[in-house]
Amino acid sequence: MQPEKLLEEIKKNYLPRIEKVTSLQDLEKVRVEILGKKGILTSILRGLKELPLEERKRIGREANLLKEEITSLIEKKKEDLKSKKEISQFDPTLPSFPIPYGKLHPLTQVTEEIIEIFRNLGFQVFTGPEIETDYYNFEALNFPPDHPARDVQDSFRFEGDWLLRTQTSPVQIRVMERFSPPIRIVSPGRCFRRDNPDASHLPMFHQIEGLAVDENITFSDLKGVLEEFAHAFFGEDVKMRFVPSFFPFTEPSAEVSISCIICKGKGCKTCGYTGWLEILGAGMVHPQVFRNVGYDPEKYTGFAFGMGVERIAMLKYRVDDIRLFYENDLRFLQQL
Ligand code: DAH
Repeated sequence: MQPEKLLEEIKKNYLPRIEKVTSLQDLEKVRVEILGKKGILTSILRGLKELPLEERKRIGREANLLKEEITSLIEKKKEDLKSKKEISQFDPTLPSFPIPYGKLHPLTQVTEEIIEIFRNLGFQVFTGPEIETDYYNFEALNFPPDHPARDVQDSFRFEGDWLLRTQTSPVQIRVMERFSPPIRIVSPGRCFRRDNPDASHLPMFHQIEGLAVDENITFSDLKGVLEEFAHAFFGEDVKMRFVPSFFPFTEPSAEVSISCIICKGKGCKTCGYTGWLEILGAGMVHPQVFRNVGYDPEKYTGFAFGMGVERIAMLKYRVDDIRLFYENDLRFLQQL
């Protein structure tokens, strides 16, 4: 066929085919038919040298322009098809990328769990300041200025009378100063002592305080409430033990233990082969404490208790080093 006719043929039949192509494979097929080694346009360009000079110039120019046009048309079509393919491959029913959920710190979880148990028993939550005066932290709780009971609660002191509270017990005083009986409160919060860090001590830790004051509150009420707590938190089968102890603000005072949740009381490393785990201190509110807040000790009685949140969390999660709670290592935290 005449080269002119062939050029016409390309314009008339092949260009529309490029337009209509719907897949990359078909596009490649058309490209080969036009520009491949044996392609129709390639054959025109090859045949140029056999044409007379004038015709060679004219056909050559036209063929080369057409080649440029077709090449850019194919490129554009290729881009179109590729982006369509990407869109059609998007599947909106696939699950999305996983979102990393956060959760509460184990000590917060344990605090909330404990508080919920007491809330169900009718206790309200009341919190106090972490920076206290010597009066609230010690004096009003019946720790005289040079009493040896202060020695185990060495604090961080500021100028004047201020210190970081060593226990949550000062909240007892603050509540009783503000409200009249009946009182039933629990008070969670941070405490501070000048202790060196080891597997069971940190200079900052958490306690939950409890206080109930009314007429005719007895030691049996204390036992009943704490037993209810121990069963709800550690399980129905744990036993409780009260051992006489001393705290300046309670009389009588007791150290309260539960039967070891690991060996069931048989004796193991965790309970120091005693079968018992100490979980809190408790007692009946000392009459002097009532006098300090203006309550009549002849009219009212009450009980109080205080527990270490870290200690309870360590038992619950079988953690043997308190420092793990504060290292912010996700490999640890994600397990709890
Ligand atoms: N505040 C005491 C301490 O940190 C714990 C305590 C013992 C609290 C007996 C009480 C209690 O309310 O009655 O060692």
